[in-house]
Amino acid sequence: GGASVPMSRFEEDPLEACYEAMAKRLEVVRKRLSRPLTLAEKVVYGHLDDPETAEIERGVSYLKLRPDRVAMQDATAQMAMLQFISSGLPTTMVPSTIHCDHLIEGTTSPQPDRDGSFGAAADLALAKTANAEVYGFLSSAGAKYGVGFWKPGSGIIHQIVLENYAFPGGMMIGTDSHTPNAGGLGMCAVGVGGADAVDVMAGLPWELKAPKVIGVKLTGKLSGWASPKDVILKVAGILTVKGGTGAIVEYYGPGVDALSCTGMATICNMGAEIGATTSMFPYNGRMRDYLVATGREGVARLADKYAADLTADEGATYDELVEIDLSSLEPHVNGPFTPDLAHPLSKFGEAVKKNGWPAELKASLIGSCTNSSYEDMQRAASVARQALEAGLKSKVPFCITPGSEQIRATIERDGLLEVFEAVGGTVLANACGPCIGQWKRTDVPKGTPNSIITSFNRNFAARNDSNPATHAFVASPEIVTAFAIAGDLTFNPATDALTGPDGKKVKLHSPHGDELPAKGFDPGADTYQAPPPQAARGKVKLDVDPASTRLQLLEPFQPWDGKDIADAAILIKAKGKCTTDHISMAGPWLKYRGHLDNISNNMLIGAVNAANGRVNAVVNALTGEEGAVPATARAYKAAGLKWVVVGDENYGEGSSREHAALEPRHLGGVAVIVKSFARIHETNLKKQGMLPLTFADPADYDKIDPTDRVTIEGLEHFKPGKPFTLIGKRADGSSYSFPLKHTISEGQWTWFREGSALNAMAKEFAK
Ligand code: F3S
Repeated sequence: GGASVPMSRFEEDPLEACYEAMAKRLEVVRKRLSRPLTLAEKVVYGHLDDPETAEIERGVSYLKLRPDRVAMQDATAQMAMLQFISSGLPTTMVPSTIHCDHLIEGTTSPQPDRDGSFGAAADLALAKTANAEVYGFLSSAGAKYGVGFWKPGSGIIHQIVLENYAFPGGMMIGTDSHTPNAGGLGMCAVGVGGADAVDVMAGLPWELKAPKVIGVKLTGKLSGWASPKDVILKVAGILTVKGGTGAIVEYYGPGVDALSCTGMATICNMGAEIGATTSMFPYNGRMRDYLVATGREGVARLADKYAADLTADEGATYDELVEIDLSSLEPHVNGPFTPDLAHPLSKFGEAVKKNGWPAELKASLIGSCTNSSYEDMQRAASVARQALEAGLKSKVPFCITPGSEQIRATIERDGLLEVFEAVGGTVLANACGPCIGQWKRTDVPKGTPNSIITSFNRNFAARNDSNPATHAFVASPEIVTAFAIAGDLTFNPATDALTGPDGKKVKLHSPHGDELPAKGFDPGADTYQAPPPQAARGKVKLDVDPASTRLQLLEPFQPWDGKDIADAAILIKAKGKCTTDHISMAGPWLKYRGHLDNISNNMLIGAVNAANGRVNAVVNALTGEEGAVPATARAYKAAGLKWVVVGDENYGEGSSREHAALEPRHLGGVAVIVKSFARIHETNLKKQGMLPLTFADPADYDKIDPTDRVTIEGLEHFKPGKPFTLIGKRADGSSYSFPLKHTISEGQWTWFREGSALNAMAKEFAK
């Protein structure tokens, strides 16, 4: 029986309970909808909090869901854990993990200041020192609140999840955009912001707009140089970077069985590049093989038992359809600067010449969370081996990022690392490294146009090396390896020959790779820290230095004083686009993600001031002097002057970054008044105890002058749906007024009253 199967090697929660709950909810939903369901629908509706009553319409209704697990990477886990700590709950209610992968820098050329030593070990040692306090905090917070902690060096979040935690039909949220990687094992895995992770860890339901479903029918079988990566490169070309928005991409058809499980994961991973909520494959024998190879026969047995719920019903309908014949699929190279600029390999060299992209390659990088399976590494090594036999080596720096310690140890044992090193490659730490811009690259000065090719997923300007002139192309690891040897982007590995040192022509034949290691996986070093038993957790001390510049425990925000808002200043009247990046910039600010006061120094510094058309320059209402936005907010806060932000359309679009709501709240903001909100940011503001308000008439935006003072009436007599009134006072003493709408529900009003959703949660828990 399956009753004894745990959710993972590291947890005792019974997995069959998840399957049983899903089957029960699904039965309710089936009766209600009485139509064939897609796989995505089965898994999503199978996690409904209220299957009997939930309104279910794809692309329309909002669903309350109960995910099975939470995964967090180190950059986003800091604020998620800090917020969880503020909730006052003694332990997380859903199995959760933290993964140290984003903060490790990769060095690809010897540094004179470090004795020329570089590579995985040196990089990892440096990261451990540089990020000691962040790792210390995450490790202690994990131990205290029951979260599994994967130490630096363990590998990349999505690979670790695939190897250990993902299961067919499961639902997971992760604080990283490429969480959908787990769709390769049939999981519905969605990337979210830290605030959502906190809710789920606290045992609250998670809200998602009922996704539309895009069906991708696969027929035929891959051959030659074509790989699973080329499926998603092709799909990205068809659907574009916006095409998957609000939808789950569901693969089906006879071609599915011709893909390895890890190949399916690659396809799902890069579904993030078309904006999809997630991507999923139906449960099949390839997934079964992978589960068995990674020590999870019990999980496979349960998946077999519930197989009918893990595949689409006959006759299920999709909102959009794409069909791909794997037999005729060519390898693709996508880019530069956007992952949907798809070029079939046979047309790529031409495109390089026609567009004047630098044809000379400067670096090749394989691996990452997207493409570092055993099969990927074998296929890449089979290309490298052919080069070695012909006396050739990589012409450019060639970097290999294993996705996990298990992959690294296995490919070391099986001699693949040796091949990569012999051909001139550098093996980087098991971490994100150059994929997230943690790349100590010294060969090309900033601003110099140059080309690189990777087997990663994102290739936006400056992502890898912070040089906006770097043309980054994306392809499969085997194609990237072939280009490393050719050093030239106009070379076509499938048709052209290389010249060996003896002058002989060398034609590479198409690569081969085993899906799974014949000798089984080698787990490598033990890099996991389990939380201590429940009874011992209370004694764990949280490791946060009060003098730290990178970490700061959160102080609960003040509850509402029970009064209307009187004579608040307008910190900034923002004009045009104001995304979460304008509100809380990324880049160098990444390192302050765990320190609210320090990261607040980036608040709204990217927003355009309607008064002067400039960024980060506003007039201080108290002194009349111009200053930076964060400094002005701090001055108001110190003087006890409440302030509001006025904004344009779709304010807060972009990401679910909760810092964009935490920062204005921290610096004394009370309301954000705009023409319209991006929905997630609107919710995030509510959660932090701020008022997200909209002009009943968008033209009222023009009535406001940034030097006015605003009073907001109606708070004392709050009712859901009942507008507030804004009374503006101009400098000349005249005044005006108009209604402000809001979408604050009775429950959300409690968040405002208590000061934040976390305060409300803590109060509830203390009862
Ligand atoms: Fe890391 Fe890049 Fe994946 S940043 S999680 S390796 S997309």
